[in-house]
Amino acid sequence: MSDYQIKGFAAYKSTYQKSVKEPEAFWDEIASENFVWQKKWDTVLDWDFSKPEVKWFEGAQLNITENCIDRHLETRGDKTAILFEPNDPSEATQHITYNELSERVNRFANVLKSNGITKGDRVCIYLPMIPELAVSVLACARIGAIHSVVFAGFSSTALSTRINDSDCKMVITSDGSYRGEKTIDLKGIVDEALQECSVVETVLVAKRINSDIQMKEGRDKWLQLELGAASAFCKPEMMDAEDPLFILYTSGSTGMPKGMVHTTAGYMVYTAYTFSNVFQYQENDVYWCTADIGWITGHSYIVYGPLANGATTVIFEGTPSYPDCGRFWAIVEKHKVNQFYTAPTAIRALAKESLDNLEGYDLSSLKVLGTVGEPINEEAWHWYDENIGKKKCPIVDTWWQTETGGILISPIPNCTETKPTYATLPLPGTQPALFDENGVELEGNNLEGSLCIKYPWPSMARTIWGNHNRYRETYFSAFPGTYFTGDGALRDGDGFYRITGRVDDVIIVSGHNLGTAPIEDAINEHPLVAESAIVGFPHDIKGSALYGYVTLKEKALSRNPDDLRLEINQMIADLIGLIAKLDKIQFTNGLPKTRSGKIMRRILRKIACGEVDNLGDISTLLNPEVVEDIKENVI
Ligand code: WT7
Repeated sequence: MSDYQIKGFAAYKSTYQKSVKEPEAFWDEIASENFVWQKKWDTVLDWDFSKPEVKWFEGAQLNITENCIDRHLETRGDKTAILFEPNDPSEATQHITYNELSERVNRFANVLKSNGITKGDRVCIYLPMIPELAVSVLACARIGAIHSVVFAGFSSTALSTRINDSDCKMVITSDGSYRGEKTIDLKGIVDEALQECSVVETVLVAKRINSDIQMKEGRDKWLQLELGAASAFCKPEMMDAEDPLFILYTSGSTGMPKGMVHTTAGYMVYTAYTFSNVFQYQENDVYWCTADIGWITGHSYIVYGPLANGATTVIFEGTPSYPDCGRFWAIVEKHKVNQFYTAPTAIRALAKESLDNLEGYDLSSLKVLGTVGEPINEEAWHWYDENIGKKKCPIVDTWWQTETGGILISPIPNCTETKPTYATLPLPGTQPALFDENGVELEGNNLEGSLCIKYPWPSMARTIWGNHNRYRETYFSAFPGTYFTGDGALRDGDGFYRITGRVDDVIIVSGHNLGTAPIEDAINEHPLVAESAIVGFPHDIKGSALYGYVTLKEKALSRNPDDLRLEINQMIADLIGLIAKLDKIQFTNGLPKTRSGKIMRRILRKIACGEVDNLGDISTLLNPEVVEDIKENVI
């Protein structure tokens, strides 16, 4: 099954060259030889970035769950597909074999059907990291329903916005979730969200914490009861290659989150191919990605990519610090994890703790380490390499995005070199390019510019749900004819890429992509706030943290500033989620603006980063005097 796994640098070079010279022949061969299709495609690729329109494997029919489950049953039926590690280390691990996964997905698919869900319907999934999350995703795919997983850390308002944007008919949730020592009332959050959602007909509730919750008559149903009544086989729905598989929301630089739409065949082929290559997965390996399935990392590299390869994938419910900061390493030892994939923010948090947390754990099973979500700094890279990989595990610094569906730039272990802080080389099928601010492509090496991708790859998002114009504007207008990533990058003398960070109003906090606009909108909801601006500043653990400049209305003068700070953060927690809370809030008399009224975030960013002597020319501002005041009162 690992026919498409690259071995050695020479193979990487020739594979890459073929993928650029003959992309259609390249993907045609990979797709033909490594997947099951009900019907083969008529054309490999049809594309036009000016519309933009991209179609891979048109004419083909398939079901992704046949590829992720059914085809493995004959040879891997008793192999563990999902290894579930609960929040509480004293609760038993679950080994879910491919046979069991098949039965659970089929039953769940029948439950969806008996509750009126059919092909093309949208189903919102708001669950903790328990096996039902992966099972419900696959059950949707089995019947052709479009899943929209919302990370269970989002607030009720964020949830209702996402449910309404794509008109979900059903929500799948649980009675609650465990997080370290805490429990969270997920069902209560769903109930609150649904006061704003008229399209939802059914809520399926999985029992996890056995809390006493309210069930709304006629709307809410216990999942376990429904499953018990469902039959154990559900015929897979045959999908067209370009039928949507899922929607996943990501924040942008304006208010509404963007519902990125991923389609079936290209996404499957690309995530499977890259999983096998980037992690060099071997048949009996145990692979663990610590992300939440609520993010694209979990969709592509906990669920679809690993299962399409017949892999054993770990689902971990808990946190890295519970019951102590050795938990990750306890799990690596317990399950003899071979590939471990996490975020730089987690590495930095653990690196701050004592090395005693590693004491006594046998990490010798590890072969490959991965990072994702934000640039990894040199110090964290070396800590990971020395203390976790013992200098013998290649680190794959994987660069990609919700929009790209799969990893585009990354080392391939034992094939290409690693270099600290560099995502290094493009994977086969990826044609990166750097552009300057005049829209001119930068040729040659030792250059820095805006990172774009010049040619389609199979797992790229096809549109934004309900807003194709916004898709074109956001990704295909800055540099016409190419896909603009929103990231800056430099290319060194060897052609290795280093991602330097966002060039737009998106800030990456602990690996979470946060748009400034939605947070500012949330702050401005506070009755005493006149206006606000958010910027990022460097933070030891989170990478970047949020700094808010807030101008208050006059009636706020009598209020205690610290109380106001708490209220503003509560507002953000309610409207978005805890991940978007501000680390620092400075009250200002005004915000620096251009003559056309645009807030100059560049100046605010410099002040927040302590670069007050280096603000550039501020004389063209509408109100240069506020800058002095802001500088003096910086936190
Ligand atoms: C943004 C995408 C891809 C899944 C997780 C995040 C940043 C991602 C890296 C990396 C430097 C990275 C980029 C990108 N990013 N991986 N290895 N090195 N930056 O998905 O929430 O869509 O965020 O995360 O800025 O554009 P996302």
